[in-house]
Amino acid sequence: MDRPVIESAAVTREFGGKAALSGVDIAVPAGTVHCLLGHNGAGKTTLVDILTTLIPPTSGTARVAGYDVVAQGHEVRRRIGVAGQFSCVDMQLSGIGNLVLVARLLGAGRRAARERAQRLTAEFGLEEVASRPAAEYSGGTLRRLDLAACLLGKPQAVFLDEPTTGLDPVGRTALWNLVERLAAEGCAVLLTTQYLEEADRLADRVTVLSGGEIAAEGTSAELKADLGRLSVTLRFASQEQADSARSVLGDAGFAPYRAGSGTVVPIEAPRLVAGVVRALDAFGIEPEGISVDEPTLDDVFVALTRRTSLEPEEAVAWGPS
Ligand SMILES: Nc1ncnc2c1ncn2[C@@H]1O[C@H](COP(=O)(O)OP(=O)(O)OP(=O)(O)O)[C@@H](O)[C@H]1O
Ligand SMILES: [Mg+2]
Repeated sequence: MDRPVIESAAVTREFGGKAALSGVDIAVPAGTVHCLLGHNGAGKTTLVDILTTLIPPTSGTARVAGYDVVAQGHEVRRRIGVAGQFSCVDMQLSGIGNLVLVARLLGAGRRAARERAQRLTAEFGLEEVASRPAAEYSGGTLRRLDLAACLLGKPQAVFLDEPTTGLDPVGRTALWNLVERLAAEGCAVLLTTQYLEEADRLADRVTVLSGGEIAAEGTSAELKADLGRLSVTLRFASQEQADSARSVLGDAGFAPYRAGSGTVVPIEAPRLVAGVVRALDAFGIEPEGISVDEPTLDDVFVALTRRTSLEPEEAVAWGPS
């Protein structure tokens, strides 16, 4: 197999003696999207900063496109595109002005820079606003401009730190399509996100970071399978019924909990659905609706961060807003 385009081995990083990352291994092959998922402070940006040569690791090694990020930082920088957590667009310049500037900084001649900038403006649907100052752009348009700028150097690896934070659903979908296209064109994409839905939809593989350590790694299907838990969601005609159902199910050895207007009962195997229904039936409680669901990436994330996080309540509240 070809060597991964982005790889880190036992990377650690300390700030003032405190570990922000401890022994992180990742490998991202060409043409794939890898999502780094984690709470605020999990170490996502720190890992991106190391891989993009902004800061060195305290120990361990990292290579991008075959080059060591510390010893060969210059070679790495020539082959990557980075869209940081905070946009680097010059607000005074127009969209096209920003792209031309970046292309020139990357060493393109005046005409080549203009041509590349115009091509990307078209590809990213920025033609209409291209000559207006970036200060007038909406958040989503700014994100697109940032991403266009990071592709000017025809990168082999692209690093996107929370690229869809603050985007509306339309902007988010547009960005997802761009990321998918990048991967289809052979880029290795490392993307950090707080949105589980995003990881589920985009990622070939997911690394869950918690407190600077890898809490889990795999495809989202593998992570869900590891959790090995199904959930039965029940709906009742009244709140009273739902309350008595929870009490009956609790007595029968299940651990039901309220979720929105429904009641969720985690079960270990499909055959246990019958047990849930029997327990309710014995007390004459009839649900209006019943569904059996595979675990979602949300469930995985909550389960993992419950184990390792100091603030489990925060984990429960996560997800796209
Ligand atoms: N320059 C720095 N100096 C000191 N501590 C730092 C520095 N940068 C990061 N940290 C610490 O390292 C840890 C990881 O931070 P990092 O920014 O990588 O998290 P993150 O996963 O990107 O979080 P967020 O979701 O908020 O962007 C945090 O505890 C943070 O306070
Ligand atoms: Mg961050």
